[in-house]
Amino acid sequence: METLSVALGERSYPIFIGSDLLAQSHLLNPHIHGKQVCIVTNETIAPIYLEKLKESLAVSQVSSVVLADGEAHKNLTTLNEIFTALLAEKHNRTTTLIALGGGVVGDMTGFAAACYQRGVNFIQIPTTLLSMVDSSVGGKTGVNHAMGKNMIGAFYQPQAVIADISLLKTLPAREVSAGLAEVIKYGLISDAKFFVWLEQNIELLMQGDEAALSYAVLRSCKNKADVVAQDEHEGGIRAILNLGHTFGHAIETAQGYGNWLHGEAVAAGMVMAADLSMRRGDISRTELQRIVALLERAKLPTKAPVDMTPEQFVELMGVDKKVLDGRLRLVLLKSLGQAIVSSDIDSALLMETFAACR
Ligand code: NAD
Ligand code: GLY
Repeated sequence: METLSVALGERSYPIFIGSDLLAQSHLLNPHIHGKQVCIVTNETIAPIYLEKLKESLAVSQVSSVVLADGEAHKNLTTLNEIFTALLAEKHNRTTTLIALGGGVVGDMTGFAAACYQRGVNFIQIPTTLLSMVDSSVGGKTGVNHAMGKNMIGAFYQPQAVIADISLLKTLPAREVSAGLAEVIKYGLISDAKFFVWLEQNIELLMQGDEAALSYAVLRSCKNKADVVAQDEHEGGIRAILNLGHTFGHAIETAQGYGNWLHGEAVAAGMVMAADLSMRRGDISRTELQRIVALLERAKLPTKAPVDMTPEQFVELMGVDKKVLDGRLRLVLLKSLGQAIVSSDIDSALLMETFAACR
């Protein structure tokens, strides 16, 4: 097992990464401060892992809330189910919420923990590759609104993150690919050597090799923890973690939440960001082709949906011509392995990217 720390002063917390960690109660129990625990999970994960997790807990009251599965349920109505269960079972301010699930469960549980009685402890046990490398780390929590993704939320850090690589054995292949999009993101934004490692090992990761997956999760979390420690509330550098996300969120919103997986939309969005970076003269066509090739080997989309027009992107990215000329901020690549945030976006080049990437 490897342990990383997210260095945030007195709110610092560990990330444990390794195999068969769910059964290792000594990792979990020191981070539970009271006598009550509420596990939040969903209808897909509960039958596989809920009992196993309960067996590891050494507290007198353990409740569980089993939510409907899917991005379409990441909303305030579902969040209220968590509050209702907590109140019905008389959870007090010393309770600990445990998120057992992917990014949808993790984001909702974290937000519930931030709000319930003005803030209670919570622990992240991510069960998807995407949530192990991204959403469980860094404290972004929240839900969607019909008018925008992740629009209601809070920064709220967990007490600990337990990334048990063995849980990935049951994860569908399409979800593994979606997680690999965020893994590849770290190579692109801050870790060129890791990008090369991924070019050499992508098939091993796709096959579920635990040693390769552990290494990829460790290196991804290290990259993310370094950025979060510098800029917890995204005043500056943390924005680079959103490479491909402005384009990707437009795709997710246009296609309806859940139809394109988050990681799939981010993959197509990263190609769009890389394409624009090439048109600005910052990366070469060969580098763009390497990025596309790696994403294709990870079975990820590298183009936007054909039915999405440039006008739709412009609308969903919140840009009209005036904003485009002045204030649209995009994460782009200065080189392969170095991201920049730019508000100097040439609208003609952006239109060329929209045309080239569908
Ligand atoms: P998800 O939570 O929907 O999980 C994907 C699917 O896999 C679900 O059907 C789930 O039930 C199933 N599943 C999960 N673990 C499983 C397992 N071990 N075995 C079998 N099936 C399993 O999706 P995700 O990709 O984990 O997360 C996407 C969400 O994360 C989005 O809502 C996105 O906005 C959010 N996100 C948040 C952050 C952040 O910083 N907070 C970062 C990236 C993404
Ligand atoms: N997923 C982007 C962030 O955590 O900032």
